[in-house]
Amino acid sequence: MADLTTNFVGIKSPNPFWLASAPPTDKEYNVRRAYEAGWGGVVWKTLGEAGPPVVNVNGPRYGAIWGADRRLLGLNNIELITDRPLEVNLREIKAVKRDYPDRAMIVSLMVPCEEAAWKAILPLVEETGADGVELNFGCPHGMSERGMGSAVGQVPEYIEMVTRWVKQNTRMPCIVKLTPNITDIKQPALAALRGGADAVSLINTINSITSVDLDLFAPEPTIDGKGAHGGYCGPAVKPIALNMVAEIARTPEMAHLPISGIGGVTTWKDAAEFMALGAGNVQVCTAAMTYGFKVVQEMISGLSDYMDKKGMVATSELVRKAVPNLSDWQHLNLNYIAKAKINQDLCISCGRCFAACEDTSHQAIAMSEDRTFTVKDDECVACNLCVNVCPVEDCITMEQMAAGAVDPRTGRTVQPEYANWTTHPNNPGVVTAAE
Ligand SMILES: Cc1cc2nc3c(=O)[nH]c(=O)nc-3n(C[C@H](O)[C@H](O)[C@H](O)COP(=O)(O)O)c2cc1C
Repeated sequence: MADLTTNFVGIKSPNPFWLASAPPTDKEYNVRRAYEAGWGGVVWKTLGEAGPPVVNVNGPRYGAIWGADRRLLGLNNIELITDRPLEVNLREIKAVKRDYPDRAMIVSLMVPCEEAAWKAILPLVEETGADGVELNFGCPHGMSERGMGSAVGQVPEYIEMVTRWVKQNTRMPCIVKLTPNITDIKQPALAALRGGADAVSLINTINSITSVDLDLFAPEPTIDGKGAHGGYCGPAVKPIALNMVAEIARTPEMAHLPISGIGGVTTWKDAAEFMALGAGNVQVCTAAMTYGFKVVQEMISGLSDYMDKKGMVATSELVRKAVPNLSDWQHLNLNYIAKAKINQDLCISCGRCFAACEDTSHQAIAMSEDRTFTVKDDECVACNLCVNVCPVEDCITMEQMAAGAVDPRTGRTVQPEYANWTTHPNNPGVVTAAE
């Protein structure tokens, strides 16, 4: 059976599934039950410095986007960091860690951008026996207006400086959590590396307004007639998070920087994808908030089955497995030719493929009088839109043309070797025979 144990920056956990810093990890009651349900680790809800209490809104703090079946696809929140007293959190962290020594316990921190503030809080966390700290440079609302959270995470120099302070003032491993609300994720990640970070985690939430109340004329969630932007997460952000993880993993200077992947992880498959693109483990928030702590059990059994089927015995065999296949567009094989194929036994004659292709793409699907839909190979460019709009899984597939076959659209013979073809250096869209 596959061994799911992970060792992330020296922190051991029985599986790669950690709960991300958020409401599921904000108190002892939650974290004990999360561990009992099987979570390998938690990142405790972000702590701030002792002092004036953090006060949350007393109205709706979430907005959402749903699919047609009302499944939650995206969640938006305007919650702040913990609003519980520092000493209560620290006491609870210590008690839980003592009782679950085999689980990872990371403490998320966000204090003002002053060395004294970091120096003051780090020994308090160390004293709890926690395994490490995660620096929250990501929250896009509420705290950033006070010069914390993403206000730090958007300035690489600040990230480097604060990370260095933390590394100088604690022996605990330091994970830097990155905000996606920037242009180039590599810059803050490189800054964290320069500052001495042991790892990066990403993504925190994305700036968002999910909807507007058209009677009140205010963004939702609406508090007494007003709304503010919040942080977006859940399945909808997974593609953005995957790309950011991949961007870091494929950068040579960061090839050895451990990554904790976060953003829309809902199933074992999402987790496996993050890991294949470079994440050493994953963190989960929205899926637990939607389905409860036991959602981790499907993740554990699914990943274990998958690894068994692939003959992988350790998660390290999966981590970065897809990174060598990450490429840039100009290196894609333009000699690879596929055509759409419609399985008539599965087709329900809804005509979505026809409407999409005829009206917006390449007019490559024919409709007969009895609503039989067929692909015109001499028009099909294999764009995949018909596959994506078809409501029946696997009804339309893309079939690769064999070497030696002639593409009826271009008259080009499919070459046996990618190496025989190259893209034109000044115009990557033009394929020419290689020397
Ligand atoms: C209600 C809520 C509160 C959150 N609070 C924090 C926080 O205190 N610190 C932090 O680093 N991230 C916080 N996050 C962000 C999550 O840790 C995570 O990065 C984000 O939700 C993406 O993961 P997901 O798609 O699995 O939800 C919060 C998210 C939500 C939904």
